[in-house]
Amino acid sequence: MTLVTDPTAPRIALVGATGLVGNTLIQLIEERGFRYRDVHLVASARSVGRELTVDGRPYPVQNLEGFDFSQVDLAFFSAGASVSAKYAPHAVAQGALVIDNTSHFRMDPDSPLVVPQVNAHELDRRPVSGVIANPNCSTIPLVRLLQPVEARWGIRQAVVSTYQAASGRGHSGVAELREATAASLADPADPGPAEEFTPSLSFNVVPFIDRLLESGFTFEEQKMLQESRKILGLPHLDVTTTCVRVPVVNSHSEAAWIECHNPVDRAELVALLAALPEVTVHDQDTPGAFPTPRTVADRPDHVHVGRVRVAEHNPRGFWLWLVADNIRIGAALNAIQIAEALLERGTL
Ligand SMILES: NC(=O)c1ccc[n+]([C@@H]2O[C@H](COP(=O)([O-])OP(=O)(O)OC[C@H]3O[C@@H](n4cnc5c(N)ncnc54)[C@H](OP(=O)(O)O)[C@@H]3O)[C@@H](O)[C@H]2O)c1
Repeated sequence: MTLVTDPTAPRIALVGATGLVGNTLIQLIEERGFRYRDVHLVASARSVGRELTVDGRPYPVQNLEGFDFSQVDLAFFSAGASVSAKYAPHAVAQGALVIDNTSHFRMDPDSPLVVPQVNAHELDRRPVSGVIANPNCSTIPLVRLLQPVEARWGIRQAVVSTYQAASGRGHSGVAELREATAASLADPADPGPAEEFTPSLSFNVVPFIDRLLESGFTFEEQKMLQESRKILGLPHLDVTTTCVRVPVVNSHSEAAWIECHNPVDRAELVALLAALPEVTVHDQDTPGAFPTPRTVADRPDHVHVGRVRVAEHNPRGFWLWLVADNIRIGAALNAIQIAEALLERGTL
């Protein structure tokens, strides 16, 4: 049981508790024995009347509208950027520290953007804004690998293609992929529904995530550049990305070409990556070994790396294939690890 009377344990609120990220936060609180003194499960008016359990105890889902944040020390927000924009400042004004899973505060200079394995030092002080931002789901695993590469060889440029799962659009994204796939199996000419993903994701890949910017890049692609720079403290880091939605239920994959300033030794690179915390390099038995969204499910709290290839014609550059659970590593787990790091430091 992780509900404790210890006065140093935080009183927490999970805003978006009924969503995919919110459900996974509850699971992680239970799995990791995260200690809390009280917990409030919060969502929209649609969910009032529902009950969810945490550590075996039932809790009613409360309406965010009118929720009193003075009852909590720490609020996790996972209910969309517009909800965070409206309600996170209110939670902070009522005394809560916010860990925000949405994009809203990520580039705010007063809100640190944290991946604990990379820049936990940003948690030494309570942020001016009262908000700690959780990065984008594809950015988190990438920067965990880029940081040691930058320190050892210096990065000239990273070119990344993502292969992002339907769960990146929450419960409704997963439901639509299943429904559209069933429709196309019944009738190959029927693409099924295409509201969350346009065109339909059934038997398809869609090179478009989030909204289009004037530059021709999507907001999802811009996030990877801007957020990587902020987290790594490298304002001139050159990262360029194509973000693609694929008909996979869960876990995002990325193919990354990383060109360094200095020649890279493959054995040293593999050893460097394998020594990172919570990273599995699939290279032990055969250098061609690779992880996939299906095969990483038995170790969902690790970033999985394979297909490590230093280019024969250009030994300064190498390719990586990485797979990481976007709901856990890309959202809920990173958020819980931020909270754990705050508690370790006594920053709450
Ligand atoms: N899925 C991912 O891979 C991922 C990764 C990183 C970050 N995120 C971010 O995390 C957030 C949640 O994602 P998700 O995948 O969990 O989505 P989801 O499954 O669609 O869940 C959305 C949650 O937000 C709540 N919500 C929506 N509008 C609300 C409102 N006006 N007031 C209060 N609650 C409201 C919903 O409550 P009801 O059930 O009452 O509607 C639900 O609990 C999004 O901002 C997303 O961008 C997601």
